[in-house]
Amino acid sequence: MPARKVYLETFGCQMNELDSELVATQLRALGYEFVPAPESADVVLYNTCSVRDLAEQKVRSRLGEVKLRKKREPGLVVGVLGCMAERDGVDLIKRMPVVDVLCGPAELDKLPGLLDNAVRTNDARHTADSGADLRSANQVALQGAASRRSSTLAAAGDSLEMLDLSRAVSPEDHNGSAYVRITRGCNKFCTYCVVPHTRGAETHRPPDHIVEECRRLADAGVMEITLLGQTVNHYRYEHGAAVSVDGVLQPQKGRSFKGGHRRDPLAGDRTTTFADLLRRIHDEAPSIRRLRFVTSYPRDFGDDVLEVMRDSPRICRYLHVPAQTGSDRMLKAMNRGYSVGEYLEFIDRARSFLDEPEKERPLMIAGDIICGFSGETEEDHLQTAELLRRVRYKNCFIFKYSPRPGTTAFDRLPDDVAEADKRRRVNELLAIQHEISDDIARRQVGSELEVFVQGVSAREQKRQTGRSTGSRAAGNGHGVQLTVGGAGLDGADPPGAPVIAAESAPASGPVQMTGRTDGDLIVVFDCPQGRSPDSMIGTFVRTRITRANTLTLWGEIV
Ligand code: 5AD
Ligand code: SF4
Repeated sequence: MPARKVYLETFGCQMNELDSELVATQLRALGYEFVPAPESADVVLYNTCSVRDLAEQKVRSRLGEVKLRKKREPGLVVGVLGCMAERDGVDLIKRMPVVDVLCGPAELDKLPGLLDNAVRTNDARHTADSGADLRSANQVALQGAASRRSSTLAAAGDSLEMLDLSRAVSPEDHNGSAYVRITRGCNKFCTYCVVPHTRGAETHRPPDHIVEECRRLADAGVMEITLLGQTVNHYRYEHGAAVSVDGVLQPQKGRSFKGGHRRDPLAGDRTTTFADLLRRIHDEAPSIRRLRFVTSYPRDFGDDVLEVMRDSPRICRYLHVPAQTGSDRMLKAMNRGYSVGEYLEFIDRARSFLDEPEKERPLMIAGDIICGFSGETEEDHLQTAELLRRVRYKNCFIFKYSPRPGTTAFDRLPDDVAEADKRRRVNELLAIQHEISDDIARRQVGSELEVFVQGVSAREQKRQTGRSTGSRAAGNGHGVQLTVGGAGLDGADPPGAPVIAAESAPASGPVQMTGRTDGDLIVVFDCPQGRSPDSMIGTFVRTRITRANTLTLWGEIV
């Protein structure tokens, strides 16, 4: 059988990017080949996001496009992976019969089996002369209610761990940067959020697996690792309670957090806390020059973590710590579990430990805000504006509230802020944030910053291809597409999205490259004469910042 050609497009967050990378590794090992455009693929997969309706709309429109082709080519296999598959379930297939395969984010290890069955079924359908109805043979793997069954064994049976463990790491497979998962799922149940329903209960990976994965990535030349989890700072692994299946240690259920500001005195040697994990990775994978983590939960962020960050030169001075709103009333309605005062206390504490501008190591903080949540008044909105001014985020992702079926807010709280008010409030907050980001960027002019080079800039891509791209190759760059979106009125780009240098390109001249500082500021600079842009990717350069605007610094290599 010739290699099946797969097109895989990823929507949404970094967790999805990593999932897609692992899925791609798995399928490649089975002989599937990845192609950069859906037209030439015989398996089309969308790894989806359900956090806001806009993300789902994009997938629905892709499915609409592929439907026409499927009419002509019934052998084509179409799969929906990720959160939308889990949230919509078989209803999605009923509404969109073009879908052959549904696979939730906690079931991705089952994807090869599902695809194999779908390919056979579609081939049979393609060649069937009996007219037998094979429509019912859709391939579905969803966790459904099993996701939150709270036994340690449910977590122990987590075969997803094998997916992370079997990650392919070779020098050709990365651009110097990699994600490493430390926790899966979420137990917070913020009332607006679909993630606990789609990604299931929080589990924590064994620290030895994480450290080993980081070391393997480091050995393959990776320079920057971003640890991933919905609430990374809740990481905690109890060794006494560790379960092993077939000799492999298994992830552990998230427990209630007992940390406070200091290391939990009960933690002892048999517990690995988030601070312990950071220190271990920093010390045991010393060739990793940048260690970062997202996303932090504002509560339960101990001084122990801040101390490890302060004392470890290769841990980035960067925190992504969403407040969601500046109103205590809204925080309560969102079930966030902290007050504005507590949030600000954390921000001040983090800055007192980590903000060292005189050593060119300022602490950069990014946030997320939801605008127009149920019951939000003008007064609540003004309090959020005040929070932005007080915190001074480097950048803040500002989203319009989008009611999500399956969440508590969808069932119990009216979506009662008028669309026009939501829009206006988003724009007002964006304008305030714009000024702050601009000021922070301009203060960098004249300083010398180390930049981790990621690729050619958006301006350069446009110059080379004649168009600005909404997609870029994810992670391993072998035809796995990442779609970014949500900019403008519907909220800012999601964390990790490439930021475009807003200027038009000269017709000729040096290639413009882009990279990030330790504090996640975007710097563009010219590729030196005699160096190929490709050879710069994944390396570090020192730049002097010559000018700046809101989202971009312009540097000269020193
Ligand atoms: N509507 C709008 N924004 C949301 N987010 C999560 N759920 C929703 C929703 N229903 C935002 C939060 C979160 C980010 C990943 O997405 O700000 O931090
Ligand atoms: Fe969603 Fe809240 Fe969990 Fe973040 S902490 S993933 S917003 S439920």
